[in-house]
Amino acid sequence: MTLRTDMDGFRPIDPITIRHDFPIFERDFAGRRLAYLDSASTSLKPRTVIDAVTGYNARYTANVHRGIYTTGEEATAAYEAARVKSARFIDARDSHEIVFVRNATEAINLVAYSWGRRNIRQADTILLTELEHHANLVPWQLLSQEKDADLEFVAIDEQGRLNQESYDVLLRTRPKLVAFTQVSNGLGTINPVREMVAKAHDVGALVLIDGAQAVPHGPVDVQDLDCDFYVFSGHKVLGPTGSGVLWARKELLDEMPPFMGGGEMIREVHLRRTTFNDVPWKFEAGTPDISAAIGLGAAIDYLTAIGMDNVRAHERDLTEYALEVLPREVPGIRILGPRSATERAGIVTFNLPDIHPHDVATLLDREAIAIRAGHHCTQPLHERLGEDATARASFNVYSDRDHIDRLAAGLRKVQRIFERPGSRAAVASQAVAAAR
Ligand SMILES: Cc1ncc(COP(=O)(O)O)c(C=O)c1O
Repeated sequence: MTLRTDMDGFRPIDPITIRHDFPIFERDFAGRRLAYLDSASTSLKPRTVIDAVTGYNARYTANVHRGIYTTGEEATAAYEAARVKSARFIDARDSHEIVFVRNATEAINLVAYSWGRRNIRQADTILLTELEHHANLVPWQLLSQEKDADLEFVAIDEQGRLNQESYDVLLRTRPKLVAFTQVSNGLGTINPVREMVAKAHDVGALVLIDGAQAVPHGPVDVQDLDCDFYVFSGHKVLGPTGSGVLWARKELLDEMPPFMGGGEMIREVHLRRTTFNDVPWKFEAGTPDISAAIGLGAAIDYLTAIGMDNVRAHERDLTEYALEVLPREVPGIRILGPRSATERAGIVTFNLPDIHPHDVATLLDREAIAIRAGHHCTQPLHERLGEDATARASFNVYSDRDHIDRLAAGLRKVQRIFERPGSRAAVASQAVAAAR
């Protein structure tokens, strides 16, 4: 089990103390403090991460793997230390299995281009699910169009859980690759990925897990999952934008051709031929985002000190609280996704009757409450659910029950604004609805 569903033996997190580590909470939003409920989109950054990025830029700026002078060696050491920390964070056997990329999207594209172009052939099947983020969908569409391969999709049930019978049936098509998210960014669903990996391996498929929404919310152990590829974005785990990780089994990375060519990824270059660097540098062409990787290392230190089991327990508590408070305080609210907090990460997706989520988010912003509205880069999932758009609140270590209470009160206020007959908001929303 990678995202624990029990809460035994965890150390409670104190979000009020934690918020002192995040400078953004010092900012005044027209007399209010920020209730940031959009961590699934990107997380806030603690001071240690900001300082790590600034420290590199202020004190030891230099390129990596080149400079044989003090700052060059310091930069290389900090960059490579971040790789070791990233490996430990997801329990990789070897830090050489960690490829630094810009984000989860780039990691999936790397696999699709490099492994996919070499291994996927005409009429092969790639098995995905209806829950996927566009990042784990579009690269496979591009690949399947190029190779004339088939895409199949595991169905979801009415609570947004993967239908395991559908999975079993589709595995009979003997897919070459199965790719699914560990946690749905659209609905928060935690998928039984370990069992799904085992079943996929039984039919000879390789498995890519999109961990973009799992790594921020609980402990991940890629060896225990026994998957073949695992990806996540640094900016969702309190790290800087521009940092991300592709993990893959070393044998696979060794066999895979380079994704991009250029400096860093080579061993020897002649006018007509090149030999390539060892893994992982074979996949890190050009000057990498050095400060972002170093910042990711600092974010991992920060979260490791809190303990990822404690993060999971904290977010589960908040999710349970939100699932209880929102329906009680906000008449008519419709919450989507699994009904039990044990089956979902710190993500609560909802809609208010007759009020478009964009209006909800805009009005909440007046209260310094930040939520996401739209299709959250899961348009096929929204089509499947029959929703144009939804509103989404998502949590992290700095979130607390007070933020959820503010959300509930804010939603009530939104409803009252729309209840006023002829109110400008109601008229505007009706006009927008009519135009759709
Ligand atoms: C499940 C999931 N996968 C992939 C991504 C893509 O992440 P990024 O935009 O950082 O590449 C996201 C981002 O929201 C996500 O939630």
